[in-house]
Amino acid sequence: MTTVVPHAPDGSPEGKLAGKAVFVGGASRNLGALISRTLADAGARVAVHYNSDSSAADARSVVDAITSRGGEAFPLQADLTEPDQVKRAFDEVADRFGSLYASVNTAGMVIKKPLVEVTPAEYDRMFAVNSKAAFFVMQEAAKRVADGGKILSVVTSLLAGYTGLYSVYAGSKAPVEDFTRALSKELFGRNVSVNTLAPGPMDTGFFYPAETDESVAYLKSQAMNGELTKIEHIAPWVKFLLTDGWWANGQVFFLNGGFTTR
Ligand SMILES: NC(=O)c1ccc[n+]([C@@H]2O[C@H](COP(=O)([O-])OP(=O)(O)OC[C@H]3O[C@@H](n4cnc5c(N)ncnc54)[C@H](OP(=O)(O)O)[C@@H]3O)[C@@H](O)[C@H]2O)c1
Repeated sequence: MTTVVPHAPDGSPEGKLAGKAVFVGGASRNLGALISRTLADAGARVAVHYNSDSSAADARSVVDAITSRGGEAFPLQADLTEPDQVKRAFDEVADRFGSLYASVNTAGMVIKKPLVEVTPAEYDRMFAVNSKAAFFVMQEAAKRVADGGKILSVVTSLLAGYTGLYSVYAGSKAPVEDFTRALSKELFGRNVSVNTLAPGPMDTGFFYPAETDESVAYLKSQAMNGELTKIEHIAPWVKFLLTDGWWANGQVFFLNGGFTTR
């Protein structure tokens, strides 16, 4: 006899997204915005998180794009480096949507410079956004998601690279792999899948300020089809991992056209 594992809150083996609440961190533009729209198109109710005041209008545009297509979403501001604000953000999601199905945190920050030039303030900021925020979002999500829920984070394909200049960026993303492994194991009994995505150099405004024409050309040459990773390459993985891909657990997926592997 086949046992059906209830990996969705409603126990449905399909694990589809209709009506399920998802928190998307860093959702005002680029990857987080596309993930929000993709999940909403699949029926999810989306908390569209943003951080900076200057991102409020973009977050509102994401919400408007979702609601204009008949979906449900609301904008939610929080500095995720502050655990109190993380807690308050998830409280707001609960007030609005009730039971939480998934958390997808895309918040991140990059600095590209020689290790010897990284200042103490830059180091603290990078670890605050890329490690501390990731950790406390995972922690709060673990407390909040229903049994069968999903928790995703985003790091970088540089974790499988051998390169200079990204010491404090890759280094501050690296702990998320261990957070993912530990939390996924701790949540076995609740059938909550915890995974992390590691995109390659991605064609967004996040990427270009740290690069030169030469480095962009080189990075393009290092993947299939001579192109950068696109947000459209990543969003379908999020949808998959939140639905039929639920058996993946404790993993870091390098999504980069072959840019780095391990
Ligand atoms: N683009 C690439 O080349 C690339 C490659 C691999 C991995 N990644 C990773 O992919 C993720 C998404 O990047 P993206 O290209 O879509 O760039 P993005 O739109 O700039 O995303 C970064 C997000 O992080 C948020 N954020 C920054 N500080 C925060 C804080 N203190 N609290 C909460 N949120 C904060 C930003 O929100 P505000 O703007 O509102 O502050 C922004 O929405 C990042 O984690 C990045 O490290 C990017």
